[in-house]
Amino acid sequence: MIVPDAASAVAESHIVPNSLIVRPVDADDEAFVEDLQALAFGPGRFSRTAFRVREQFPIDPSLSMIAEVNGTRCGSVWMTPISVGGVNGYLLGPLATHPDFRKRGAGKLLAREVSARALARGQGRFVLLVGDQDYYCPLGWETTTQGAIQFPGPVDPTRVLLLSPETGLSKSLSGPIASYQAD
Ligand SMILES: CC(C)(COP(=O)(O)OP(=O)(O)OC[C@H]1O[C@@H](n2cnc3c(N)ncnc32)[C@H](O)[C@@H]1OP(=O)(O)O)[C@@H](O)C(=O)NCCC(=O)NCCS
Repeated sequence: MIVPDAASAVAESHIVPNSLIVRPVDADDEAFVEDLQALAFGPGRFSRTAFRVREQFPIDPSLSMIAEVNGTRCGSVWMTPISVGGVNGYLLGPLATHPDFRKRGAGKLLAREVSARALARGQGRFVLLVGDQDYYCPLGWETTTQGAIQFPGPVDPTRVLLLSPETGLSKSLSGPIASYQAD
């Protein structure tokens, strides 16, 4: 019996590796991100409270990221520098994965990676978001004190979640969302 070597076995198997990466956004991604957000959140997205924050405060394009599976764009995330009660941090979102590419880990990788990059800069102490506890808490986000962080519109307080390397900040942070305080 002839046993093929490993390299030729892989070449003949036609198995495409599921290569998932995240990278910073570039100018060519603009239309992809717009279309994806429209698909993921629909026409009502502009009235969502988290979108209203992003209308008031500019996103940081250096913290906008794209996910790709096998070289095809499949997800995106934005970050908005903000402050709450005089403490600088970031608002994460919108986070979206194209419906054809869900459940491959792109959403979680984007959330983790963009937050790690933002916090590593040492200029913001938390990453805030409005989202599902079941999705984000296993990644390290924690519930906040209900009503303590004030958004410019209605939010479900049980969905206001915070990630921070500082123990206790998720429960102590309070105040209205305001602009990022430059040095
Ligand atoms: C939420 C979203 C970003 C997840 O993207 P994704 O690339 O499929 O996420 P991942 O592959 O990293 O994780 C998928 C897992 O999370 C679970 N999951 C997805 N959305 C969830 C939610 N809202 N609550 C709890 N679990 C959720 C999936 O069931 C899946 O579970 P499994 O691994 O046990 O199969 C995507 O579904 C999406 O774009 N939804 C529409 C926009 C949206 O709601 N964005 C989030 C706003 S906070």
